[in-house]
Amino acid sequence: MIDLENDDLPAFTAGRHLLSVQQFDLDGLAKLFSLADAVRPIAQRRDICTVLDGAVLGSLFFEPSTRTRLSFESAFLRLGGEVTTTTGFTFSSMAKGESIKDTSRVVSGYSDVLVVRHPDEGSVAEFASASLVPVINAGDGSGEHPSQALLDVYTLNREMAARSRSVDGCVIAIVGDLKYGRTVHSLIKLLSLRTDITFKIFSPPSLDLPCAVADYARARGHRVVECESVLDAVSGSDVVYTTRVQRERMTEEVLANANVSGSLLNREILTKANATDIIIMHPLPRDSRHDSYDLSTDVDDLPGLSIFRQTDNGVLIRMAIFLTALGCTEDDVAAATKARPWDATLRW
Ligand code: NCD
Repeated sequence: MIDLENDDLPAFTAGRHLLSVQQFDLDGLAKLFSLADAVRPIAQRRDICTVLDGAVLGSLFFEPSTRTRLSFESAFLRLGGEVTTTTGFTFSSMAKGESIKDTSRVVSGYSDVLVVRHPDEGSVAEFASASLVPVINAGDGSGEHPSQALLDVYTLNREMAARSRSVDGCVIAIVGDLKYGRTVHSLIKLLSLRTDITFKIFSPPSLDLPCAVADYARARGHRVVECESVLDAVSGSDVVYTTRVQRERMTEEVLANANVSGSLLNREILTKANATDIIIMHPLPRDSRHDSYDLSTDVDDLPGLSIFRQTDNGVLIRMAIFLTALGCTEDDVAAATKARPWDATLRW
């Protein structure tokens, strides 16, 4: 459930937790994106940076993750900090019945910033309430995933700019599991800062976008159009954002009602919709198993496929998040950066 009370959360600045995208206005977003642009040479290993020398990241992932955990950790390491990490409940003291608040108070004594992913909505906010240091929400159940939405919007800005277009006035299809997929909840809210967006949404039965999220966008002057099919959603859209069925979050009954099989979006649908040049986004992971009802790999050679530009951009956005939380400016970064003395093959 999306909590509109999040409007009360303070703007994301030095020393603050990052729990929701509602902590950003357009100005805050521009500042974060400018910081992300500034650290691109460091993310790409052209330059090396020691601005976070001596700082320790506590990385706590109580749910599966590959790119979010590794990109947060990689971002911190690239800024010269050190990383301590724990994954899953099994090897944490939560398996012995320790509360979220006790765990938080303890680990915040060992770290300068914490990144937390947890399967329960609202749990990262609870974690933050007992922490001595800034807590970054890396996904709380079906709630929010602010760093993903930030990297999605950053990527979308760049994709549209490459087409000499603005995100304002865009038509964005959002398809798949819109109920349990937390990335779309954060994304729609963050894009609502822009002007005149049309969201064309399609989800299988029982996996509808929560009304509160659609209302949030509508209340800010955007259109949310419910579509009958993925074909209908992508027709005439500039972008399609696809999501995985979050099987781990639903009962067998909900999954049976959703009746998902085959592929969610593939080349045939895009060809029928005359949309083979559309910008294709996905938070990943993509479920590539047979009949998984996800983005098909048969679109992988289309030029608009942006899914790996999203993952690459994730590192710089997360660097910018750490710099903001720890009060470092672009000047601080520049003063602690030098050209790398070793040779490396740049791949991106
Ligand atoms: C997403 C997540 O964990 O919410 N992945 C990610 O962080 N990039 C999406 C998903 O798991 O389907």
